[in-house]
Amino acid sequence: MSTTTTTTASTTTITTEPPKSKYTGANRMTFDGNPTSYNDFRDALSRDGYAVIKGAIPRDRAEKYADAFLGYMEGFNLGYDRHNPSTVRRDKLPVLNEKGMIQSYGVTHEQWVWDIRGEEGVIEAFAKVYDDEDLIVSFDVVNVGFVNREDLPENKPWPHQDQDPAKPGFRCLQGLVNLHPSGPNDGGLIVCKGGHNLSAQFHAEMADEPRIPAWTPEWFGFTDNGMKWLADHGLQWEKVCCDPGDLIVWDSRVPHYNVPPTGSVDRLAVYTCYMPVKEASKGDLVRKRDAFERRLGTTHWPNAVHVAPTNIATRDGKPCPVARERPVQEPVLNERTMKLTGIPYLEAMA
Ligand SMILES: [Fe+2]
Repeated sequence: MSTTTTTTASTTTITTEPPKSKYTGANRMTFDGNPTSYNDFRDALSRDGYAVIKGAIPRDRAEKYADAFLGYMEGFNLGYDRHNPSTVRRDKLPVLNEKGMIQSYGVTHEQWVWDIRGEEGVIEAFAKVYDDEDLIVSFDVVNVGFVNREDLPENKPWPHQDQDPAKPGFRCLQGLVNLHPSGPNDGGLIVCKGGHNLSAQFHAEMADEPRIPAWTPEWFGFTDNGMKWLADHGLQWEKVCCDPGDLIVWDSRVPHYNVPPTGSVDRLAVYTCYMPVKEASKGDLVRKRDAFERRLGTTHWPNAVHVAPTNIATRDGKPCPVARERPVQEPVLNERTMKLTGIPYLEAMA
């Protein structure tokens, strides 16, 4: 922080200027396919379309978040007990989709989820990519991949990209914080390494391929023919292995999905995606503020491209008996996390 001292005949005024940011925007990643030399995770991200940031969250805090996640599911008092595998049953758990996502109950605004979003090591990874610390964060969901999921719907591969093929080029960096050990046999993210660099070619050459129905244009599913194209062009799929507290980031153009565990460890992950606030319009920030105030989710898009219509979970066609509109623990945000909602930036525009 720098200070300026101005002295006149009768008064002395000391003006404190805000600290200069080390992020200027001049070193923002371009994702143009050319090799980079950052000498950190950004080189892998540029080359492979994904990267692991080791220890983005210190191990002890990652274990605390895992405990909070498991305690959250136990706290519905439906019968789930982390120490009793026989309780991994639909009727004893909050509603999960077949991919393991808890999408309702206001989970995206629980204090422990916000604490993860506010972790400096997580924010810093995105700040480095964009060379910008003025970021907003998605209100995205959490994911649990149980080992013992006998009566849960099967998690089949759904290779996809989270970006409209009609809007090519780099647009979004997705992320997830991993909270349990995730080795080759454990559940987690699997990516088509390098797929981002062939994305434009793929969509040009496969333009006539019938589309898999999608609820949003910002989702594109890869058909068997599409998978064959990727393989024919030498691309390979890789399960991303990581430790508790590691952050995985990936370019939204990279084909990906998640695989269920085949070992003995449940998968726990929290999706975290940030973008520069300057890339959001005023309308985006208004929509985002409304989502925050109503404790709704936004998918992975930080600029609230989509806002969930409700937090009420549906179980077997009816509202879940333990459905709720708002989180169990209402979030108390600090200055840093409040900025990530975009609200202070919106207020500054007024
Ligand atoms: Fe995805």
